[in-house]
This record gives sequence, structure tokens and C-alpha cells, in this order.
Amino acid sequence: MKLSIIGTGYVGLVTGACFAEVGHHVICVDSNAEKVKLLQAGGMPIYEPGLAELVQNNVTAGRLRFTASTEDGVENSDVIFIAVPTPPQSDGSVDLSFIEAVAREIAAAMTSYKIVVDKSTVPVRTGDKVAETIKRYCKSKVEFDVVSNPEFLREGFAVEDLMKPDRVVIGTRSPRPVQMMQDVYAPFHAPIIVTDINSAELIKHAANSFLALKISYINAVANICEASGANVEEVANGMGMDIRIGRRFLNAGLGFGGSCFPKDLSAFIKISETLGYDFALLKEVQRINATQMERFLKKITDTLWVLKDKKIGVLGLAFKQNTDDCRQSPAIELCQRLQKEGASLRVHDPKAMEKAKEILQNVTFVEDMNAVAEGCDALVIATEWPEFKQLDLERVRKSLTHPILFDGRNLFDPAEMERHGFIYKSVGR
Ligand code: UDX
Repeated sequence: MKLSIIGTGYVGLVTGACFAEVGHHVICVDSNAEKVKLLQAGGMPIYEPGLAELVQNNVTAGRLRFTASTEDGVENSDVIFIAVPTPPQSDGSVDLSFIEAVAREIAAAMTSYKIVVDKSTVPVRTGDKVAETIKRYCKSKVEFDVVSNPEFLREGFAVEDLMKPDRVVIGTRSPRPVQMMQDVYAPFHAPIIVTDINSAELIKHAANSFLALKISYINAVANICEASGANVEEVANGMGMDIRIGRRFLNAGLGFGGSCFPKDLSAFIKISETLGYDFALLKEVQRINATQMERFLKKITDTLWVLKDKKIGVLGLAFKQNTDDCRQSPAIELCQRLQKEGASLRVHDPKAMEKAKEILQNVTFVEDMNAVAEGCDALVIATEWPEFKQLDLERVRKSLTHPILFDGRNLFDPAEMERHGFIYKSVGR
């Protein structure tokens, strides 16, 4: 099938590459001419496991190409996916100006029936607005359908999530685009839910907010564990074996970050407010997430007391493992807070050092994870990179001025760390 994806960011680029991989002919459109040039020259604007190879193979096979022209994308495809950013505004609501602009561009370029699919995360009822906009700006009376098809990929696992989705959600007002949408997704062999457009849009915000709630819930339980001498991992394991609950997203730590959960949570609260409902439960999820950072910082100051002139090593800068994305990263926030208290930092991340350099000033970036602790008063683990489990613990302990390790992601076993001679503090254990 002939598909185009408008917006070559995280969602757009990975979606385009995966659609091409299963045999569709895909045009990825982006208004940023520099990014298009980079991709045309074989470069990658983001790090995502397996993505570079996927893009290269499909470009070589002639199934994937990049352009800065929306007209080119619209003209040469039957199904047009919108995957542009929907950034948060200062009041928590969503900025839909990119979606609106793309709807107008599509309308201007359409000369035959098209299915316009929204993949970006948008407030419920956006699909109707997109349809109205296309109708208004379409030069001739061309037929089209608008579909909501939210994306559930996780950064760091984006290719895997797209190639093997748990489910595909297709929301539409009319039956006409259903068969074609099913054909687009048939090669992925995933369960397909066909529903109305409003429900499809709500599924995305409801799912992400629920996952954020799950994390805040276990973080709150972790606080009770600390106060009572219980172990949050044991509690999470016991809870997670109930298949109605499940073990995933029950890892206590520094709290959630990234470009999705914080934004989607604020958006869902705002959408609910607009619709006349005070979603107080989700406000509490936000509050617990914010306090989690404060509690962790207090653990550090309770132990080190004054941070001025202290040297602290930080392992992890990305908002989670397997990504170089530092947007709304709890690790970056932690670094900035430690700096504010007067500490000097030595930091390392397996993939996010370049991106972190654009945000963090006056820190020492260290290439070797085992060298970060050298001369430091304490070491902090801020991101759950599995690599950190391979730390040379003997070397790290010896290179610290005091063998203090704050583990914000519960990567190590407390008993084992004590055996290695560390004063080890983690979350909820
Ligand atoms: C999320 C959703 O998982 C995905 O379905 C949606 O499409 C986009 O938003 P992403 O932001 O890439 O994906 O990351 P995710 O793996 O969900 O982690 C989000 C944050 O939660 C990270 O900061 C992570 O460290 C934190 N987290 C996750 C926890 O603190 N504990 C957990 O148990 C799981």
C-alpha cells in the first residue's frame, strides 16, 4: 500500500520504517529541510535500537523515502498519517497548532479520496476538528475520512513495540476506511480494535495516565515500605503475580519522566476539566511523582548533610534506559537540584551524553562508567540502564572518598552492596 507519514519525529520515523519493513511503500515528510537532508544522506536524528538498520534497508529496497514536501506525500499515497508534535502549553493543555497546520496542508494538496489518520496524541474530539478543517480548506469537493490510530510505542523499544503491537486501535465515524486500515496493519498480526473516533482518542490518554498512576502507586507504597521496614520489590512481586494487576510498571524509583507521561497526564486533567470533571486522582499522581524526587534528595542531604563543595558522581542522564532522550528526565532534574545545592558533578550516560551537554552546564562528562566515582563523596544511580549492573564495584568503592551509593532505580541488591562495603540507599527497601 502507498502510505505517507507527516512528521518525522520519534513516532513518525519509526512508524514509517516499520511500515516499509512489512512491505508498504512509505514517504516520510518533514517540514525541517535539514532533518530531511540528514535522513536522505543516511544519517539518524535520534538513537533508537534497530532503527538505523531498518531505515537503511528499506531505503535501499526502494520502499522508504524522505521529502520536505507535504504535497509530494499526499499526492503519492492513499493513507496519510499525521505524526507531528502536540506539545504542552503552560496551563497543561495541548498545543494543536501543528495538527491544524498539517490538516490545512493536506486539504490543499488532496485531489482524490484519502484516509487521514491521526497518530499524534491529541485530546478527545480533535478528529472532528481535523475533519472540519480539511473540509474548509479543501479546494475541490474531494472525499476523505479521518481516522484516529493512537501510537503506544515506548522510547528505547520503539521498533519492537511497532513490529509486535499489543493492539491496534482504529477509531472512525464511517465504515469506509476500516478495510484499508486493517490492510495496513494485517502484516503485524495484532488484535485490532475498531471503535468510534472519540473512544480511540480517549484510549491513549486513559492508558498513559493509568500507567503513570501505577508508577505513582508503587512509589507511594515504597514510602510505606521505608517507614515500616518492608521491601517494595517483594511487595511488587507479590502484587504483580495477580494477573489482574501484573508486575510491569511497578518499579519504584525517582518517578516517571519523558516526553509522554508528564505531558499526557496534564493534558488529561485539562481535558477532563474542560468537559466538567475534576480528575483529582490524576492530580495526586502528579503530586506523588514530584515528591518522589524531593524524598530522594532528602536522602542525599540527610547522609551528606551540606552539599556545597561536595563532589557527586551521577550515573544516568536519559529519562530511562535505551534512549538518548533527556526531555523531562528525572536524572537531569536531579543533577540540576544537586548543582543548586552547591555540589559539583561527574556524570555519565551510555547514550545521552551529547544531548545532556545541551542542557547541563559546568559538569564533568566522563566516558567510562567505572571512572565516574573517582574522588567523589557519593555516587548516584539516576537511570535504569542495565549496563550499570556490570559496574566494577570494587573499583567504584575504592575510587569514592566515602563508599556511599544512592540508587534511585533499585538496580542492586542491598545485601550484596553491603557485602561490597557500600553504604547503600535505594528506594522503598
Ligand atoms: C510511554 C508509554 O509507555 C507508551 O506506551 C506511550 O506511547 C508513550 O509514553 P515512554 O515515555 O517511552 O512510553 O517510556 P516508559 O517506558 O513508559 O517510561 C516512562 C517513565 O516511567 C520513565 O521515566 C521510566 O523510568 C518510568 N518508569 C517506568 C518507572 O519509574 N517505573 C516503572 O515501573 C516503569
